[in-house]
Amino acid sequence: MKSIVIKKPNELVIQEGTIPEPGAGEVRVKIKIAGICGSDSHIYRGHNPFARYPRVIGHEFFGIIDAIGEGVTDKSIGQRVCIDPVISCGHCYPCSVGKPNVCTSLVVLGVHRDGGFAEYSVVPANNAWVVADTISDRHAVMVEPFTIAANVTGQVNPLETDIALIYGAGPMGLTTLQALKGVYNVRQVIVVDRIDERLAMAERCGADWIINNSEKSLAETLEEKGIKPTLIVDAACHPAILQEAIMLASPAARIVMMGFSTEASAITQQSITGKELSLYSSRLNANKFPVVLEWLEKDLIDPDKLITHQFNYQHVVNAIELFEHDQKSCCKVLLTFSE
Ligand code: NAI
Ligand code: MN
Ligand code: ZN
Repeated sequence: MKSIVIKKPNELVIQEGTIPEPGAGEVRVKIKIAGICGSDSHIYRGHNPFARYPRVIGHEFFGIIDAIGEGVTDKSIGQRVCIDPVISCGHCYPCSVGKPNVCTSLVVLGVHRDGGFAEYSVVPANNAWVVADTISDRHAVMVEPFTIAANVTGQVNPLETDIALIYGAGPMGLTTLQALKGVYNVRQVIVVDRIDERLAMAERCGADWIINNSEKSLAETLEEKGIKPTLIVDAACHPAILQEAIMLASPAARIVMMGFSTEASAITQQSITGKELSLYSSRLNANKFPVVLEWLEKDLIDPDKLITHQFNYQHVVNAIELFEHDQKSCCKVLLTFSE
């Protein structure tokens, strides 16, 4: 079988190997489709501090169970499954409070352990979630990116009356937007980005108001309309944004961060306490696969609106380069491993 392996930063090979056998508690998945994410590109380019090489990348993947390990009783051959990349210990403090996504011995498929850019992948049976027949393959492969949005929105109880502001109309901003509109029925969702083409995608995903902040500052635009957001999600993640978000927020607003920059942000206690703001962060997903599968079954979200390209996996280098260089035309880029 073939796997996409990052040997070391900037060296990607499509490697031939033997098909792995599932161990106890594991299943083997014949991969159909996988999605390219920013973190795959970061591992490829050597910019992910958690990555170890060589590594089979890919943490957004979907396929069919074709072998079952010892002791697995709740899965069967032929089931269509999408894979939760978060592997946790189940007994540390974060696991005990429902946050396996920050388990003290967290393992993420495609980052710490070989992932899904391969013809076959062996995963813990508990990480394979059965997909209903009514959900298409292309929707099933998009469950993982929507679990990030489920985690973000799950932190803050969005209300219909919220005035939500999302920074960034990339995959993360758009999944969050679809969740706020389709699942929580938030009436006003504003999306800000610097790229008009991405803002057009946000409009198609249900944004009520799109703002390009490349020429005029967001603060000025919002002030003109007298708008103070009550819920802000930073899905652009430049380190300067937190300070701006705190300034723009309504008193009593909630702000969710999802960035990993190590650069300091200049914020004061008064700017937060003066408005009693609540600051949240969100990493990966905590048991959100069943949540998003339910959203799909109920037709509350539409992943197709994010998918701009699909390539055969043999063209993975072209696919990643396009994904990296053309943010105007690219959002989610998929790789096909088998029909
Ligand atoms: P992306 O790069 O495709 O999208 C970011 C968007 O933000 C771009 O369209 C860009 O034009 C826009 N942007 C950048 N600076 C801006 C600014 N100052 N004002 C307005 N718009 C701005 O990235 P993607 O995949 O959507 O991910 C977004 C961020 O979320 C990344 O930083 C990524 O590391 C992070 N992330 C966090 C996860 C988590 O679990 N916490 C999971 C996945 C991604
Ligand atoms: Mn991802
Ligand atoms: Zn744990």
